[in-house]
Amino acid sequence: MTLSAKEKTMNVAFYGHVRQYHNLKAELDAAILEVLESGVYVQGPTLKRFEEELAAAMGAKYAVGVANGTDALWLTFMALGIGPGDEVITNANTFFATAEAIWIAGATAVLVDCDPLTRNIDPEAVRKAITPRTKAIAPVHLYGQCAPMRDLRKIADEHNLFVVEDNAQAIDAHGDDFKIGELSDVVCTSFIIQKNLGTYGDGGALWTNRQDVNDKVRKLRNHGSTKRDVHSFGFNSRLDDLHAGVLSVKLKHIAEWSDRRIEIANQYTAGLKDLKTIDLPYARPGYRHVFHLYVIETKNADDRSKMLDFLVKNGVDAKTHYSIPIHKQEGYPWGKESREVGSLANAEKNAASCISLPMFPELTDEEVNYVIDAVRAWEDQ
Ligand SMILES: Cc1ncc(COP(=O)(O)O)c(C=O)c1O
Repeated sequence: MTLSAKEKTMNVAFYGHVRQYHNLKAELDAAILEVLESGVYVQGPTLKRFEEELAAAMGAKYAVGVANGTDALWLTFMALGIGPGDEVITNANTFFATAEAIWIAGATAVLVDCDPLTRNIDPEAVRKAITPRTKAIAPVHLYGQCAPMRDLRKIADEHNLFVVEDNAQAIDAHGDDFKIGELSDVVCTSFIIQKNLGTYGDGGALWTNRQDVNDKVRKLRNHGSTKRDVHSFGFNSRLDDLHAGVLSVKLKHIAEWSDRRIEIANQYTAGLKDLKTIDLPYARPGYRHVFHLYVIETKNADDRSKMLDFLVKNGVDAKTHYSIPIHKQEGYPWGKESREVGSLANAEKNAASCISLPMFPELTDEEVNYVIDAVRAWEDQ
């Protein structure tokens, strides 16, 4: 079937939050009611249980729930002693929050280019950006695929740097021969609703084998306090027990949801691989790419807005992740000394040409086929 703008027969949403809620309604309602009936909503037993479940599922000694993924990152930087005068190297092509977290900690974000295939941080670009002030590398597992952690760990070891994984998009992913968390100091994640593991609102966590980071973040997230009325330096950034209850239910389903995401990605790839005007996402052999996003790129950047309009007109809710790289954001000067190192041509091409197709585990095969038809129709017109 070839679509034209006149033949729109379906609307395919970008997210499936309500569908997922309906599929798990009994379990989720029970978990929420249990917290409501418990009378303990902040730093209570549900949060403690979820932290233990998360640490066990991720193979870490400690997991700490915080208010959101951005806080997980900057609280981690602070706990590692990273602050003013220090540099953290990260992707130029990421969600704004990665750089924002470095700035909140008072440090300088040093932005480098990505690999043209995976769109993950380029280790050679990282190597060139190291200065005596560099304290950490903060790779993002962009779109659901692990960054090249072995190479990054090697560079970090050579220069005595911390590695902090921004895993907001890749929970349940792994590399060819490494797990997330195995080659870093701390892993940070976001539980905002649209993430692969998301709550009904905001949430975040970090996991680590470092007791010092665990202890420091536990204090920092709770006004510098682990004992009633006694406070050192701190903030308020806690994961509420209601969210912990929801996440506890959803954590049990994450592997099956990732499998379905991978299945949908394979369907998109099979249906679109012969097209001439777009590039499809590249999954590294042996890596478990969990497709938080299925991002295609128009070969010609000028086509991006035309294609996006065509898809939206045809009922496909496509989006961009992310159409403006960090160094071109209005908020970039916030990180006063922040700077780019080397060419950011790949990151800029990614920003100019990316289109994310609908991707969530509850998509039906009929909807996936409709999206494929719509993308094909764009090329055929
Ligand atoms: C790569 C990345 N880092 C950090 C964050 C920040 O997480 P949050 O929105 O929970 O603060 C997000 C998502 O929102 C993200 O995609």
